[in-house]
This record gives sequence, structure tokens and C-alpha cells, in this order.
Amino acid sequence: MDRDCSEHDLAPAPIRALVTRRLLLQGAAAATLASALPVRAATSTAAAPLDFKSIPLDVTPDHHVAEGYDARVVVRWGDAIKSGAPAFNAAQLTAADQDSMFGFNNDFVGYFPLPKGSKTSDHGLLFVNHEYAAAGEMASPGSAKPEPTAALVALEQAAIGASVVEVVRKDGAWQLVENSTYARRLTSTTPMSFAGPVAGHSRLHTSADPDGRRVLGTLANCAGGKTPWGTALSAEENFHVYFSGDAPAGHPESERLFLAQVTGGKVDRMSWGKFDKRFDVSQEPTEANRFGWMVEVDPYDPKAEPVKRTALGRFRHEAASVVINHDRRIVVYLGEDRVWGFVFRFVSEGRYDASKGVANGKLLDRGTLYVARFEEHKLVWIPLVHGRGRLTAENGFHSQADVLIDAREAAKIVGGTPMDRPEDIEASPVTGHVFVNLTRNNDRRDVHVDFANPRADNEDGHVLELTPPKRTGGLDHAADEFKWSVFLIAGTREDGGQYGSPEAAVLSGPDNFAFDPQGRLWIATDNRRWSQHLNPIPNGLYGCQAEGPDRAVTRFFYNVPAGAEMCGPEFTPDGQTLFVAVQHPSEDLDPKPAKSWPDFIEGVPGRPSIVAITRKGGGMVGGG
Ligand code: FEO
Ligand code: CA
Ligand code: CA
Ligand code: CA
Repeated sequence: MDRDCSEHDLAPAPIRALVTRRLLLQGAAAATLASALPVRAATSTAAAPLDFKSIPLDVTPDHHVAEGYDARVVVRWGDAIKSGAPAFNAAQLTAADQDSMFGFNNDFVGYFPLPKGSKTSDHGLLFVNHEYAAAGEMASPGSAKPEPTAALVALEQAAIGASVVEVVRKDGAWQLVENSTYARRLTSTTPMSFAGPVAGHSRLHTSADPDGRRVLGTLANCAGGKTPWGTALSAEENFHVYFSGDAPAGHPESERLFLAQVTGGKVDRMSWGKFDKRFDVSQEPTEANRFGWMVEVDPYDPKAEPVKRTALGRFRHEAASVVINHDRRIVVYLGEDRVWGFVFRFVSEGRYDASKGVANGKLLDRGTLYVARFEEHKLVWIPLVHGRGRLTAENGFHSQADVLIDAREAAKIVGGTPMDRPEDIEASPVTGHVFVNLTRNNDRRDVHVDFANPRADNEDGHVLELTPPKRTGGLDHAADEFKWSVFLIAGTREDGGQYGSPEAAVLSGPDNFAFDPQGRLWIATDNRRWSQHLNPIPNGLYGCQAEGPDRAVTRFFYNVPAGAEMCGPEFTPDGQTLFVAVQHPSEDLDPKPAKSWPDFIEGVPGRPSIVAITRKGGGMVGGG
């Protein structure tokens, strides 16, 4: 989702105070810096050259993949994933129907092989999260936005969250396994628990949960990650839009609710508070503190209760890239997708032990959360620990729980670098280097430009590469300082776009991405300006090398149908299947087409879907 990622969230005074004088670049100096990028010299690579030619940078009603490949829908919004689901009928869909069906607006995709622990690449589970659902978008094409009702709010609540589905590849084509015992829906009403330092804290107490340890549901799930012990992490992103109303006068949460945009007038809000009192801030002022967390889900156990891991902080979560450090501590890279959002990192206290299986999840409950400060020649990780530096009672942080609940505010006052909307973060399986997608920031002016966010009015975004130091046994992802460089700057050349060569295909709005097993990078884009007729660059998936002479030479591999954004690239372990998520097909089209993707049946609305891309005749996607 892009439109609710708070494009106009500028808070000039505090942000200027955080950008050190040394980092400020004005006008010509900024232009000089940008023209010298990307800054890291290319090195050799063992990855095979990409085996496809770029497709045209067009937007069409259907999706398209590069010649030599097949792209087939595996599961659509409304497909029955549990037994007893009725036939899909968008116009008459109820919350009860939706509860047995694949959810709306798919975003993150995680492939989990079956059997568990194997590297099977033709049979597995997909953990998919569903970012948002608006009853208007779920109705038939061209219909007016319906008046909110209790039934429509319940339908929206049932259509988001996450789905677990079982898929199998037969005769080359992926298909859904019907009536799978793994099939599961998690919605905004599914019971879950809190773990970590904030569990039980008074700021989580509500009338329904006076102990602050249990919560109904997960909201606004956008992107996420997988753990080495076979669970998914699902990121709660734009949770604030689900709340309405104001806290009672003088309530201690008032200021923090406003800073998190849970209250205040700038945000286009859902209508849930009218029908479900826990989303009415005037009645339940602490309910919003129970969202904005990273949720761990075990897709292999349909009975396992999801857990909100509070040590990973509360903010508009996007990425969760989990790495086993050289010393076997667990490191999780986390992005805050908000204009001026921060890049975070969690380092566990304990060490990973494969024999403990899903019990390793507890490693995510004890450790240190850090925020990134990008300096000219290094990246410094600043710990967010109560009592250290400015994280004290006089600044409103009375405990570590306060630091974690208001992690964004903590990151601000310790001097983290406000970024151009950090989306996905991934570590290369080959080099270990960590890549960060910054999707855009229209509010950055010349006075805000810094080395890691080198373009004012950054309409198209950019990609950074972070390099942890080497130690005996591998890279040290827990080190206090990294090196970093700019990998590419998105957009047309006229808008300052910079790639590995003049022949590279231009892209805009880098959002999710994935590495293939050879360490090549596949960038999914969400360029919302295309539908506003402000930018001609289509959305889809772009492949490129991360190393070698073709580093950052992007090729356009797959384009989404008109109106959609590209999410969730995910490879099977053998690299032969690439799953992608097509989100909100036809959403912003005006007029709406009478026949929408992927069904193209009169009256059936666009259906967000998971697509499997495979190479004709077999082999790794991308070649090699
Ligand atoms: Fe929902 Fe940050 O994309
Ligand atoms: Ca997006
Ligand atoms: Ca995203
Ligand atoms: Ca990813």
C-alpha cells in the first residue's frame, strides 16, 4: 500500500536538528554527489548472466513476463482455501465466507517446503499476508464506494491478516491443494499473544485485556520475512489508519497517539471505530499500542498461536530480514515505511541452536534494538536502551517498554537518520551484504539531503548496500559500524536515475525484493505516480546482478496488470520458481474496466493474486 504511507509527514524542525552539519549538502554539492553514484566499485561475480531480454516498459490490462518464461496465477482473492467455502461472488461476499477464502491485497510471500526441514521445491506452504481491504475495492468494478455498515467492516476485518495455503507443482504448473490441513486464515480478530519486554505492560492494558498479554488480530500486514527455524514474520505497517476518534482530554497517551498519527486530521481513516469500539480511540485509548509490531507465525502448525515479538519495537514495520550472525546470534533488519522513517536492527542476546526448532523464536524476546545513523563513510548503529543517552524519564521514556512502544520517537532523539521510506531489506545469500530499498520521499528538500538520501524531491527512490565487517567465520552483522554505498538511484535519467549502465531498464518506487540462490537481485516496484499520470514507468519486477560488471544493470522481467503494484518476490530453494504477489489490480483505474484481471469476466472485480513464474523447459529463473 502506498497512499496511506503518510506522504506528507514533514516535521522540519526536529528533522533538521538530527541531520548533522557535516551531512548537510546544499544545491550544487548535492548534485555533484548524486552524479558520482553508484559509489562502490564493481567486483567479480560467480552468478550466471541473466538469460532474458527486458520486456517493454508498458502498462497493459494483463500481466506479462519475459520471453522464455511462463507466469500463471496460483491463488486469487476469494479462492476457497478451507473446506466449506462457498463459490466466490464478490457482490454477496460476507465475513463468514471470506474467513474460508484467500484474503485480499496479498503482499508478503514466504515459501516453506514440505516436508518441514527439506529443500523441496515442488511442494510447500505459502505464507501470504494481506495488507488492506476496502469494501469499495472489493465490490464490483465501477460501483460507488458503499456506506460503511457493520457487515462491511466485518468483511474488511476478515479479508486482511494472512493466509497459509498448501501448493504443489504438477506437470510443471503450480496449483492449490484443496482442503489442506495446513490451510489457515489469520484476520484482525484472530487471538494472538504478546511476548518480550512489553508483554503485560500497562500501556497494553485495555478493557478486554486488563493484563496486556492477549490481543485480537493483526492489522496492515505489509512485507515481512522468514526465520531460519521455519516461521514467518509478518510486519504490521499502516495500523494507524484503522483507528478514529480522539483520546479523552488529558489522557497520558494523547501526545504519542498524535505523533504515531493514530489521531489527528491528516490521515484518510477506515470506519471501523463506528462499529467496533476497540478501534475508537475515545473508548480504548491504548488499543493502538497493541498494533505496529512484528508478528511471528508458524505456518507448519495451524494450531500455533501467533506471537507479537515486542523486542523488535513498534513502528510502521515493513522488512524483517533474519540473519544468523557469525557468532550465531540472530540479527533482524527492520525497515520503518514512513516518510522520514528509520532503518532498525535487532541483535539477540542468545544464540541460534538448530536443534531447538521453533523454540528459537524466544531469541527474538531478549536483545537490543538499534537505529541506523548514516555518516559519510560509515553506518553507525545506535542502541535504543532505556537510561542511555537521551532515553530517560525527562524525555518521556520511563522504561524499556516506553522505548519499544515508541521506537520511532526513541530513534529520533538519539540521532538516527530519517530516510526516504525504508521498505524491504534483504541480505545476499552469496556475499552477506545487506540491501535496503528506499521507495521515495517527496518531502525531502535540498536542506534535508544527506549522503544516504542524496536526492531532494525523491520521487523515485533508491537502493543502498550495507557491508558488515568481516570476522573469522563470517560477516559481523552485530558490529557497531558498517560500510555502506548507494547501489542505484531509481527514476528516469532526466530525474537523476543512475544504474550500472545506460542500457539498464528504468524503475520507480523500489519496494519489496528478493535474492535468487545465485545472489542476483529481483526488485519489485510500487510506483503510485503511474496511476496519477505523473510518471510513465510501469510497476513490476526487475532483475539485476548485485556484483560484477553488470552490477545494477536492471532488466524489466515481469509487469503487473494496470493499476497493480508488485509485491512479495520469493524463490523456491532451487531457484526454479519465482512467486510474486499482484496487489490491488485495477484499483486506481478510472474508469474501472468492466472486465478485470485475472478473470476478465464482466462484473468480476480485479482479484489480487499470487503468480508463479517458471522457465519454459525448466531451469533457474534468470538462467544459470
Ligand atoms: Fe505497504 Fe510499505 O508498503
Ligand atoms: Ca507497497
Ligand atoms: Ca511494501
Ligand atoms: Ca523480501
